[in-house]
Amino acid sequence: MCGIIGYIGQKDAAPILMSGLKRMEYRGYDSSGLAILHNGVIQIKKEVGKIAELEKLLNGQSLPGQLGLGHTRWATHGIPSRTNAHPHIDTEGHIALIHNGIIENYSALRQRLGARGHKFRTETDTETLAHLIEDSYQGDLLEAVQLALAQVKGTYGLAVICDKEPDRIIAARMGSPLVIGVGEGENFVASDLAAIIPYTRNAIYLDDGEVALIKKDSVQHRTLTNREVLKKIESVTLDLEEIEKGGYDHFMLKEIMEQPRTLEDSMRGRLLEEEGTAKLGGVADHLDKLAHARRIIIIACGTSWHAGLIGEHMIEEFARIPVEVEYASEFRYRDPIIEDGTFVIAISQSGETADTLAGLKEARRKGATTLGICNVVGSTIARETDAGIYLHAGPEIGVASTKAFTSQVTVLALLSILLGRMKGISSAQGRWMVREMKKLPGLVAKILENHEKIMHLAQKFKDHRNFLYLGRGYNFSIALEGALKLKEISYIHAEGYPAAEMKHGPIALIDKDMPVVFIATQDGTYEKVLSNIEEVKARKGIVIAVCTEGDKEMGERADYTIEIPRTMNFLMPILSVIPLQLLAYYIAVLRGCNVDQPRNLAKSVTVE
Ligand code: AGP
Repeated sequence: MCGIIGYIGQKDAAPILMSGLKRMEYRGYDSSGLAILHNGVIQIKKEVGKIAELEKLLNGQSLPGQLGLGHTRWATHGIPSRTNAHPHIDTEGHIALIHNGIIENYSALRQRLGARGHKFRTETDTETLAHLIEDSYQGDLLEAVQLALAQVKGTYGLAVICDKEPDRIIAARMGSPLVIGVGEGENFVASDLAAIIPYTRNAIYLDDGEVALIKKDSVQHRTLTNREVLKKIESVTLDLEEIEKGGYDHFMLKEIMEQPRTLEDSMRGRLLEEEGTAKLGGVADHLDKLAHARRIIIIACGTSWHAGLIGEHMIEEFARIPVEVEYASEFRYRDPIIEDGTFVIAISQSGETADTLAGLKEARRKGATTLGICNVVGSTIARETDAGIYLHAGPEIGVASTKAFTSQVTVLALLSILLGRMKGISSAQGRWMVREMKKLPGLVAKILENHEKIMHLAQKFKDHRNFLYLGRGYNFSIALEGALKLKEISYIHAEGYPAAEMKHGPIALIDKDMPVVFIATQDGTYEKVLSNIEEVKARKGIVIAVCTEGDKEMGERADYTIEIPRTMNFLMPILSVIPLQLLAYYIAVLRGCNVDQPRNLAKSVTVE
């Protein structure tokens, strides 16, 4: 999720672009850059690191020019570097482009352009787009952009300038937000209102498939096939802070609610329905070794460790490879046994967690082949592993991990389908699994529609001092994750346990004041969980059950039910965790806790 901004008007663009980039830095960035057109030449300034690094590079030098583009990068393809930073240019530097999104078919386009003599300077999908526009350019930038985008698969919010047409910016949207700010004798385009609010509150929101020709005193809208589109100017009332959170009260709620999109992004270009399998480019060179591993060890911390437990279950179920999941902090000091054929998978949203990094180094020192599953491109763990799979979930700002968790489980599901198909799962079964994965964003959206019911439940339970979360199989991992969400943001003590284990001790805790959250979806152990629910009820415990929609029996037994749609068992964790994320969030808000920055916690624990 990058930040993009463009300006055309009577003032110098550079200061406006820089202040806009700063207002988008919450979107996460690892590099940034400017393109300014002045006296017929496009000047490019780019730097790796925070916006402040770009400011240092500019070092107060004036960059005259009333037409320009600015970009903060959240890397998806190509490590964070000055070279890979946007804006990207065509062969001769006549065209400059900034882009937010993922061009799925960029490697095929790159090959085709390479065969036509184009030379590439970077590893990015975006540079390919700049060359594609150059290849289509015959004197009309709007037309060249339309022709180029007609060949593109994927998502984009982009802005393009050309030194031969100094009076315009061309912008286009497909799947990534883009808004035009309409000023007096000046116009703006940005991925985010936050960047343009100080200059104008008159906004035009582009829709998917639309292209805009932006001059300093006019804006025209077209489709890719050049049909005119009429757009209205809207007046924006949100303030800056609300805009950064997408209109939500907290980043955590925004990140919970954007999971239908982040799941799509994590699966984008990776599901092969015809073949009934998955495609994971970052694993390709080590896929055979992984599929024939003698043992897989998953190391992680916190929420990522919970994702690892689900990954263990999936890979053993479908690929029949022995898997064990270790707390990285324990693994690193235990002089672990790493025999030939051991593959170690490190799961880390930030890619910087000290214990996971240390565990990874220990595994490599002992000769293991390693795979990283990270969200931050170019992070230390991502760079230390032999193979890697990025989440593409965009920056996760809230300390309590939500969208990264469901994307981790999604990536592990993709991996287990890929390995399973190599180890004997039929193509028919694979196609069924792929079809079910494609439904996930819609199913999650359906659960999120019920958020008010969960808010009312939170009202009833916000003052309880202890919770138990219970589940079996895949649902045990979700019990752990649900308990962690509650305790880390509401400071209520909560424990996750295997449902059957309750009778080996925790049952002593149960009384009329103890809410017990069961993840009790209709899978192979459902009847057993029903018995556990009876055991709790017999001791006057309060039962909250996350259950399969339409489960009437559960409605009669539990005190409260949260119904979720049905899918294949291995994908149910992605659905059953959503109500628990919301329950924790609403209880924490009702308790007046600092949801996005809970006490004592950090987003990335880079110390032991
Ligand atoms: C999750 O909500 C917590 N913030 C924490 O447990 C986190 O999952 C853990 O610190 C691991 O972080 P990582 O995924 O960035 O390695």
